[in-house]
Amino acid sequence: MNNKEIVAKAIFDVVKDDLSLEVITQLLENPKSVDHGDVAFPAFSLAKVYRKAPQQIAADLAEKIASEDFEKIEVVGPYLNFFMNKKMVSQAVIGQIAKEKGHYGDSTIGEKGNVPIDMSSPNIAKPISMGHLRSTVIGNSIAFILEKIGYAPVRINHLGDWGTQFGKLIVAYKKWGSEESVRNAPINELLRLYVQFHEEAETQPELEDEARAWFKKLEEGDEEATKLWQWFRTESLKEFDKIYSMLEVSFDSYNGEAFYNDKMDEIVTLLEEKHLLKENDGAEIVDLSAYDLNPALIKKSDGATLYITRDLAAALYRKRTFNFAKSLYVVGNEQSNHFKQLKAVLKELGFDWSADMHHIPFGLITQGGKKLSTRKGKIVLLEEVLNEAVELANKQIMEKNPDLPNREEVARQVGIGSVIFHDLKNDRLNNFDFVLEEVVRFEGETGPYVQYTHARAMSILRKADFVIDETKEYALDDKDSWEVIKLLQKFPEVVIQAAEKYEPSVIAKHAIQVAQAFNKYYAHVKILTDDEQKESRLALVYAMATIIKEDLRLLGLHAPNEM
Ligand code: ARG
Repeated sequence: MNNKEIVAKAIFDVVKDDLSLEVITQLLENPKSVDHGDVAFPAFSLAKVYRKAPQQIAADLAEKIASEDFEKIEVVGPYLNFFMNKKMVSQAVIGQIAKEKGHYGDSTIGEKGNVPIDMSSPNIAKPISMGHLRSTVIGNSIAFILEKIGYAPVRINHLGDWGTQFGKLIVAYKKWGSEESVRNAPINELLRLYVQFHEEAETQPELEDEARAWFKKLEEGDEEATKLWQWFRTESLKEFDKIYSMLEVSFDSYNGEAFYNDKMDEIVTLLEEKHLLKENDGAEIVDLSAYDLNPALIKKSDGATLYITRDLAAALYRKRTFNFAKSLYVVGNEQSNHFKQLKAVLKELGFDWSADMHHIPFGLITQGGKKLSTRKGKIVLLEEVLNEAVELANKQIMEKNPDLPNREEVARQVGIGSVIFHDLKNDRLNNFDFVLEEVVRFEGETGPYVQYTHARAMSILRKADFVIDETKEYALDDKDSWEVIKLLQKFPEVVIQAAEKYEPSVIAKHAIQVAQAFNKYYAHVKILTDDEQKESRLALVYAMATIIKEDLRLLGLHAPNEM
C-alpha cells in the first residue's frame, strides 16, 4: 500500500458510511512542505455531514485515529497532516526491493496484450535524421515501460522503402551513378543522386515521366527495377544498423512500406464496397469532411498508391497478425494529420479497433534554436554525433578515473546513454536544443549524472562488502533517508504513469529526483559509520542503486558499476 492508501483507510475506518474510501482518496493531498507531513486531508467535505466546523472535525478525527502507521497526526486549521511511520514504511519498501530487485514495480496490467510499436522508420536512401533518432529512443523506452506492466511490445521498423522516389532514384542511378560509388558510401551517394535528379528535372521535366514509369515497373515486379531497389535497401539498412547497434535498439520486424505492396488491393476493394471512394481529377479519394479533415488521397491518377494507402494496409495487417491491445505510432508531430486521416478512414470502414491506434507525437530537435533540415544539405550525421559523445565521455572518465579497467565500454555506455537520456528527459512534445557539451556533462540533470550516482552507490557497497539479505529487516527513521525512501516507494506508480501517458520523461525525471535525493543523503549522513543503523543505511543504498538502474534500463541506458 502507498501512503495515500494507508491514510485513506485510516480515515475511512473512523468515518465509515459518511464518506466512501474512493472520495477520501481523491481528497487527499501531498503537502508542499515536508513540515506538513506526508499526506494531508482537508476536512471541509465532512462539514455538511457532521454540521460542525471543519476545524472541529479535523481535531475530532485526529483524536479517533489511532494507528501505528503514523508517527503523528497534526491538526492545522481544517487540515489533518499525517506523518507516516518512517520505520514501518522504510522497512516495507527496502524489504520489497530486496526481494523483488529489478522486478520491483512489475505488474500484470497489460494482460500480455500485444502492442505493435511503429518506431524509427527512416527512409531508404536518405540519412537517418534527428527525428528518426527521437522516434527510435522514445519507441524503445515505451516498449520497455509497457513490457514492465505486462504488455507484449513488438518493435516495428516501418521503413520508408517504397514510393515514387524509388523511380527517381533508379533513373538517376542509371544516368549518373555507378555501382562502386554506391558501395563506398551508400547513403551519401544515393542522396547525391536524388538531389541531382531534382536539379536536372527542373530543366528536363520529362525525367519525372521516366521516374513514374520506373516506379510503375517496380510496383509490377519488373526484374531490373526490383533488383536495384533491393540493393539500395540492403545498402541503406547496413548503415542504419550501425546506428541501431550503437543505440542497442533492435527490431522484431523491418516490414516497411514495400511489404504492403501486395496488400493494398484489399483495402481499395473494401473502400469500394462501402462506396467510400470518390473520383477527383482522376485520383481516388475518401472524403473526410465529417471529421474536419482534408480528403485522404488513396490512389493517384496514374494508379500509384500512396503513403496512407500503405498505412491502411499495415494497420489491418497488424490487427490480424497481433490482434493488438493497442497499436502505437511514434512519429513526429508534423504527421498528426496523417494519423488522424488514417484512423478516420479505418473508422469509416467499420473497424472499431481503430480507436486503439495511437499516434505518439514528439517535438523537434533544434540547433541554435533552428530546425535541422536535410534539404539545405545541413544533415547532422547521427553516427558522428554519437561518436563525439563517446569521445567526450571518454575524456571525462580519463580525468576522473584514469585506471578504470573497462574504460572504453563504459565511455560508450555513458556517451551514447547521455544522448538517449537528453532526448527522453523532457516531455516528448517539447522542442529542445541539442548542444553536445551540455548533453555529456557529469553534473546537472544529465544521464551521466544519474549513472555516476549509481556507480557511487555501488562503490559504497563494495567498500562495505555489503550483501543484501532479504530475510533481514532493515528500517530507518531519520529525515534524510526519508526523502529517498518516499521516491523509491513511489516507483511502481511512476511506471504506470509513464505507461499511461506514453511518456518516458516521467521515468527520467524520477531517476533525476532519486539521484538528487541520494546525493543529498550522502552529503549529510556518514553511511559507513559503525553503529546499529549501518546495515540499514547500506540496504537503502542498495535499494536506491537497484531502482536507479531499473529507471535507466527502462530508458534504454546501462548503469555501469564503476565509472
Ligand atoms: N518513413 C516516415 C518518415 O520518415 C515515417 C513512417 C512512420 N510510420 C508510419 N507507419 N507511417 O517520415
